[in-house]
Amino acid sequence: MGKVYLIGAGPGDPGLMTLKGKSLLECADVVIYDALVSPPVLAMINPQAEKINAGKRMGRHSLLQEETTQLLIEKAQDHEIVVRLKGGDPFIFGRGGEEMAELLESGISVEVVPGITAGIAAAAYAGIPLTHRLYSSSVTFVTGHEAAGKYRPTIKWQAIAQGSETIVIYMGIHNLPYIVEQLSSSGLSLETPIGLVRWGTRPEQEELIGELGTIVQQVEETGFSAPAIAVIGAVVKMHSILSNCRPV
Ligand SMILES: C[S@@+](CC[C@H](N)C(=O)[O-])C[C@H]1O[C@@H](n2cnc3c(N)ncnc32)[C@H](O)[C@@H]1O
Repeated sequence: MGKVYLIGAGPGDPGLMTLKGKSLLECADVVIYDALVSPPVLAMINPQAEKINAGKRMGRHSLLQEETTQLLIEKAQDHEIVVRLKGGDPFIFGRGGEEMAELLESGISVEVVPGITAGIAAAAYAGIPLTHRLYSSSVTFVTGHEAAGKYRPTIKWQAIAQGSETIVIYMGIHNLPYIVEQLSSSGLSLETPIGLVRWGTRPEQEELIGELGTIVQQVEETGFSAPAIAVIGAVVKMHSILSNCRPV
């Protein structure tokens, strides 16, 4: 029996991969990876390893979740080091918790290796600090995908709007009009700054900066698309100062 390592690949920049994750990739026997793992991180994989793309983008599954778990179980029965490689951090909107529990239930040893989540890294590379002594002492990570039935439809937008000074939304571009409507009807001013960051930390990173009241139109006009995070709150004002010296 081998072991499954649930590894976070980070948001794209290979320099953000953890040392522990990299050394496991270099000696893996099998790597099952997701669509958002960047090519330079995939290039770290042991050339002798079997590589399987379980890629999921916008609901197009090359492998269903149950198939992925079953495959991990089968591979761990025959190989020593099996890596499940996920974009960002496996436990942040990555179904890592579900996969790990299912593997443990099947008697497979599993270890998680956290990664840098896109919400932190994409914002940082866009010059947006999620907290700032002048602007924000609290951050909430939330999925914008609830309307598509991917997550429990229980997001309390009103509580988030009133309780968190910075809101980071994953998978929110398609539902942006709904999200903006929910937040503004919960009391957030239409002048609240918002920054969208697409393909954060990769060379192709793009940003769109606006206000809650203008952003939906800006997205329509520019054709800005996923994968992107949205950062909402006064910290987005820092973009104009900090984005000039970003790492990419
Ligand atoms: C299924 S979630 C996975 C999140 C991942 N586990 C993490 O911790 O970053 C996919 C969403 O993460 C966000 N995302 C992932 N990588 C990104 C990147 N490089 N730049 C911007 N957003 C990204 C997008 O909102 C995308 O739709």
